[in-house]
Amino acid sequence: MSDIAIDLGTANTLIHVKGKGIVFNEATAIAYDELTNAVIAFGNVAAEMIGRTPPSIRVVRPLSTGVVSDFAAARNYLQLAIRQVARYKRFSPHRIVIGVPSRISGAELKTFQDALDSSKIAKVYAVQEPVAAAIGSDLDFARPLGCLVIDVGAGTTDIAMMSLGRVVDSRSLRIGAEALVAAFANYMRNVRRMNVGDRTAEQFLHEYGQAKMLDKSTGYINGVDMKTGLPAEIPVHADEIFNSIKEPISLIVAELRLLLDSVPPDLAADILREGIHLTGGGSLLKGLPELLEEQTNLKCHHVSDPMQAVVFGCGKILDNMELFKFVLEAMPDEIRGTVS
Ligand SMILES: Nc1ncnc2c1ncn2[C@@H]1O[C@H](COP(=O)(O)OP(=O)(O)OP(=O)(O)O)[C@@H](O)[C@H]1O
Ligand SMILES: [Mg+2]
Repeated sequence: MSDIAIDLGTANTLIHVKGKGIVFNEATAIAYDELTNAVIAFGNVAAEMIGRTPPSIRVVRPLSTGVVSDFAAARNYLQLAIRQVARYKRFSPHRIVIGVPSRISGAELKTFQDALDSSKIAKVYAVQEPVAAAIGSDLDFARPLGCLVIDVGAGTTDIAMMSLGRVVDSRSLRIGAEALVAAFANYMRNVRRMNVGDRTAEQFLHEYGQAKMLDKSTGYINGVDMKTGLPAEIPVHADEIFNSIKEPISLIVAELRLLLDSVPPDLAADILREGIHLTGGGSLLKGLPELLEEQTNLKCHHVSDPMQAVVFGCGKILDNMELFKFVLEAMPDEIRGTVS
C-alpha cells in the first residue's frame, strides 16, 4: 500500500509516489487494436503513434480540454500507469490526491474519481490545479496576501486568485496550448495550402511560436502540399506564425483581465507587488510573460518547474494531509461533496 499523487492532464500524466518522487511522466494516450480492443501501448509510445497508425490501430487520448472524455480509456490508462509505477507487483494505492481544473463540475469530477477508484480501496481527494501548483512551487499562498496563478495546460487555462490558502476567485477556459496548435494548423491548411500533422505543428510552435513578437526568424515546416499532393518543406515567417495563434491567446488574456477586474482592491495591491505566477506547459510559449506584462502592467514570472508543479503540490499534500487539510476542505461544495 502506498499513497500516490496524480496530475492527469490532457497531454501529460505525472505520478508522484510518497518517498520516491515522480515515478511516471508520460503522454496521456493509449493505443488499442481495432479488432480485439486489446491495449497495444500507452503513454509516450502510444502518443508517438498519433497520425501514423494503420487502420487496425486506434490511439485514444482519454482527456479533452482538461476533463475525461473517454471514460473506459481513462480507466485503462490509469490502471496501466499505476501498475507500471508499482513495477508490476500487486499495488493498491491507499490514498490518491489528484489535480483537477478549478471550475470542474461535480459530474466531471466523479469521472476522475471513478476512473481511479476501480479497486474501491483508494480514497480519492481532488485539489484544484492552481492551488496544487502554488503548493508545489512553494508559493506562500496561505498568508493573508493575494497570490495569482495562471496554469496554461494543453487543454485548459486555469486562473486562480488565492489568499489564506483558499481560492478567492477563479476562471477556467477550455483553451490551452492545443488550441494554438489547431489554429496554426488551420492557417497552414487554409492560407498556405499545406497539410501539417498535429505533432509536427506542435513541435514547430515550441520553437517558433510566440505570444509577443520578440524574434523575427523564419521557420521551415514539413507537410503535404495540397496543390501537388506531395510532401514538401516550406518557409513560414515569424509574423504569419504570430498572427495565426493571436486569437486563442487573446482569449486567455481577456479571461485574465476579467478576473483582475473583479479582484478586491487590497488583493490587487498584493498582486501589484508579487506579480503573476505562470505554470503549465503552454506558459512556456515564447513571449507569453512579456505579453501578459504588457496587457496587465503586472510582473509575470514562471514558477520553478511549470511542467511538474501540480503533481509536486499533490505529493506535498499527501505527505502532510493534516497541514493541508484546509486545502481539501476549501474545495467548492460540489467538489468537496464527492471527494471525502
Ligand atoms: N515551449 C513550449 N511552447 C509552447 N507550448 C509548449 C511548450 N512546451 C510544452 N508546451 C505545450 O504544453 C502542453 C503540455 O503542458 P501540460 O503538461 O502542462 O498540459 P496538461 O497538464 O497535460 O494539460 P491540461 O492541464 O490542460 O489538462 C502541450 O500542449 C505542449 O505542446
Ligand atoms: Mg495540467
